[in-house]
Amino acid sequence: MTIMAHFLVTGGGGFIGSNLVQALLDRGDKVRVLDNFSTGNRENLNFPHLPPELVANLEVLEGDIADLSTCHKATQSVDYVLHQAAIPSVPRSVALPIESNLANIDGTLNLLVAARDAGVKRLIFASSSAVYGNAPGFPREEGITPAPLSPYAVQKMTAEHYLHVFYELYGFETVSLRYFNVFGPRQDPNSEYAAVIPRFIKAFITGTHPIVYGDGEQSRDFTYVDNVVYGNLLAVEAPEAPGKTMNLACGGQLTLNQILGILRRITGSHSEAVYTDPRAGDVRHSWADITLSEQALNYNIQVPLEEGLASTVEYFRAVFKP
Ligand SMILES: NC(=O)c1ccc[n+]([C@@H]2O[C@H](COP(=O)([O-])OP(=O)(O)OC[C@H]3O[C@@H](n4cnc5c(N)ncnc54)[C@H](O)[C@@H]3O)[C@@H](O)[C@H]2O)c1
Repeated sequence: MTIMAHFLVTGGGGFIGSNLVQALLDRGDKVRVLDNFSTGNRENLNFPHLPPELVANLEVLEGDIADLSTCHKATQSVDYVLHQAAIPSVPRSVALPIESNLANIDGTLNLLVAARDAGVKRLIFASSSAVYGNAPGFPREEGITPAPLSPYAVQKMTAEHYLHVFYELYGFETVSLRYFNVFGPRQDPNSEYAAVIPRFIKAFITGTHPIVYGDGEQSRDFTYVDNVVYGNLLAVEAPEAPGKTMNLACGGQLTLNQILGILRRITGSHSEAVYTDPRAGDVRHSWADITLSEQALNYNIQVPLEEGLASTVEYFRAVFKP
């Protein structure tokens, strides 16, 4: 990677966003974060392991992408936008469809307009495997017709269409990356909408019982966050990327029960899971075909699953240190 550029990372105070910010600062880029800190937090933007002269390239704007003038301000003098800001949870979108629509669709449209008008070179969007729903066909390849099961999935699919239309109509370079169950350091283990891996790890480390919604036989293509960071950085530069929607994952499939087994081994816990009702809107299986991102981005997996899980456990051990 040779670009030294000015990036806007929306949702940069969140889990994936802050990992992107860290990688960009680390290679010497200038980074502006736009975040309303609804699910993210400012502590995620402390980077004690980076040299202060690199951290000085970080600027934080607190604001909402649902506000167009904020988006105009945030995109001034920016070369690239990595758009991570969203209300990111399926169950939260089931509970609050209007609120999540505002952030995930209206907010994305505001940002597209502002970025296009500001002369941004390329915008990369954090889409989701949720768009596939329970459509037939595994592994998921991008040609499968989306079958959203939740407002969140409808919103991500709609935003993808907006990106594509902006590319076709205005020649604005846009790329949608469909993330598949990302995990790693700084993911929130505490909210009622928290993702499964940080919840499981927290339970094992703190000696409580992990809660599984459903029978645990649902599967996911779990992806360590460094792979997603790597895919985004490739998408910024790849000549083949604009106008495309691509899966970004590991191309594997594990059930929640299998993940519990691996995490028990890594943490040394013997805690049994508690099984409860499945959650509305959740898909049963998820497994990515990553051929397109391998071809169009030259993407390959940087950190395999077990290595990523071990690093994540190590991170949370420090967080939950007694
Ligand atoms: N984590 C995953 O497994 C996963 C999978 C598929 C897609 N995604 C997508 O990746 C992106 C990042 O997800 P994450 O897991 O890091 O979640 P996160 O909640 O940690 O990050 C989202 C960030 O967006 C901010 N935000 C929310 N609404 C905003 C608004 N209206 N204006 C400005 N900022 C706002 C939040 O405060 C937060 O910092 C999201 O778009 C999410 O939908 C995540």
